[in-house]
Amino acid sequence: MTLSNSQIGLRGELGAIFQQAISSAFPDVTETVLLMPCGQARFGDYQCNNAMGLFGKLKGKEGAPKAPRDVANALIAALPANELVSETSLAGPGFINIKVSRPHVAKRIGDMLKEGISTWAPKLTCKRAVIDFSSPNVAKEMHVGHLRSTIIGDTISRTLEFCGVETVRLNHIGDWGTQFGMLIQNMAELRPEGLGDDGGRDEDVSDLMQLYRASKKRFDEDEAFKTRAREAVTRLQSGDELYLKAWKRICAASRKEFQAIYDRLGVVVTERGESFYNPMLRDTVEELLERGIAERSDGAVCIFLEGYKVPLIIQKSDGGFGYASTDMAAIKHRLFTEKADWIIVVTDAGQAPHFEQIFGAARKAGWLTDDIAKVSHVPFGLVLGEDGKRIKTRSGDLVRLVELLDEAKARCVENITARKLETNEEVIPEEIEAAGAIMGYGAVKYADLKNHRTTDYKFSFDQMLSLQGNTAVYLLYAHARISGIGRKSGKDVAALAATHTINLTHPKEEDLALHICKFPEAIEDMLEDLAPSKLTSFLYDLSEKFNSFYVDCKVIGSEEEDSRLLLVEATAVIMRQCFEILGITPLYKI
Ligand code: ARG
Repeated sequence: MTLSNSQIGLRGELGAIFQQAISSAFPDVTETVLLMPCGQARFGDYQCNNAMGLFGKLKGKEGAPKAPRDVANALIAALPANELVSETSLAGPGFINIKVSRPHVAKRIGDMLKEGISTWAPKLTCKRAVIDFSSPNVAKEMHVGHLRSTIIGDTISRTLEFCGVETVRLNHIGDWGTQFGMLIQNMAELRPEGLGDDGGRDEDVSDLMQLYRASKKRFDEDEAFKTRAREAVTRLQSGDELYLKAWKRICAASRKEFQAIYDRLGVVVTERGESFYNPMLRDTVEELLERGIAERSDGAVCIFLEGYKVPLIIQKSDGGFGYASTDMAAIKHRLFTEKADWIIVVTDAGQAPHFEQIFGAARKAGWLTDDIAKVSHVPFGLVLGEDGKRIKTRSGDLVRLVELLDEAKARCVENITARKLETNEEVIPEEIEAAGAIMGYGAVKYADLKNHRTTDYKFSFDQMLSLQGNTAVYLLYAHARISGIGRKSGKDVAALAATHTINLTHPKEEDLALHICKFPEAIEDMLEDLAPSKLTSFLYDLSEKFNSFYVDCKVIGSEEEDSRLLLVEATAVIMRQCFEILGITPLYKI
């Protein structure tokens, strides 16, 4: 449903060619092409693995081939005329090794340089996607889990935007619920004048964690306060002006904290918190009840789904609405009002059963079908401190995310300065400050994205800021070095593609060029699994292949200078597009 049939990229086009061979050699069977990178690079670039399966399907039929190798030979003979395949060979029981034409690879890259990287964006059937990510909770700590959601969700959004999908980036913040009763009540009781007009006094919301902790303590320990806090919820929900005002002030204070993170990370997300759906809850529950999708059970309104021990509770027995009620209203709104054809929700893995049930319930209600939309819950694992436990500051407190990001930046500023002093380069504080921010925030993002999102990872400044290995710091330096080659040549490398072509002569050139052409595949694979690590691996391999090319192939001053400069430029273009998707700003000079 995500990828359109008109595939671009080597793998997609080769797949189409082999698919055609399958249907023309064996018109009576339907079989989907199986194409993958060749297991052993010296035998080919890709391999087609259909012969064995086809053999099984054809067995017993009249004139059926005698062995899978015969099937493979028939496929090769049936290949339509094309300029991609330069050589095929058989291996094992019937694998077809495919070598891609080098002149074709060279031309492909030249075309991309002329026409722009957007021509290499995979085509998707999806037109409009809602991405629900970040989504911290008001007056509670925004923790590293929310940071992960922010980083992963932003990258997914950027990938879709690169593919031409219209995105609706939603911050489903927890800005409604019973916790506001105790917060507001506590605020009211701590002020001599009650909640009455505050003249803009903000001290009681300036430290929300503190307010939250104090209120929670009273709520847990003091029965009478608990009762007053519950009454406060009712007053708030019935629209009491003073209580609403207090609620808004708490939200505004939280928003400021969240925004500080988004600003540093360069993340754009539209706030549409739980309160937004509040006016829709009653009708949503009523509709589901009336249509028999939901039923009353022990006073609560529940949706029972097969395979789940506990039902989805969309209205509690005391009449209150909760997390699931809001998510039912949200999915309906996203499907019918937002008209999204892909809904993606990025949260910690612990919420997977909740979303399975929400999606299941939406299907049961008939709101969601495969024709209407695709839905994906994107779970992720934990971020741990270096000791393998929850990350804390040296004093043992939970880390504040802003401080974490500031430290990453400070360390980078320090490292860059030290390097410059070592090499006797000029130290321009503003430049280093800017580069340090790019590097520090980029490093935090990259360290997160490079792990498959479902694995837990350890947050380590030393690792993520290392100049060696698969880190943003290494890659940013690599990109700056690569960009420097073009500058040193004194030529307008970006314009060179209009007048010159690439000619691949050295095996290291071929290797690099082929990898460059696999960029669309990396994007496809990342979208398939919604796993940004697929793209970081591709990016890291690209820089490795570039290094090994650059060691063996002289660029400036060589006979092949123009062709190789184009290959250098193509590497830089792809690197920059990867950075863009990962939300990292490229540095041209450090
Ligand atoms: N606020 C929730 C949390 O902190 C995440 C919300 C995710 N989105 C949603 N539609 N429920 O875990």
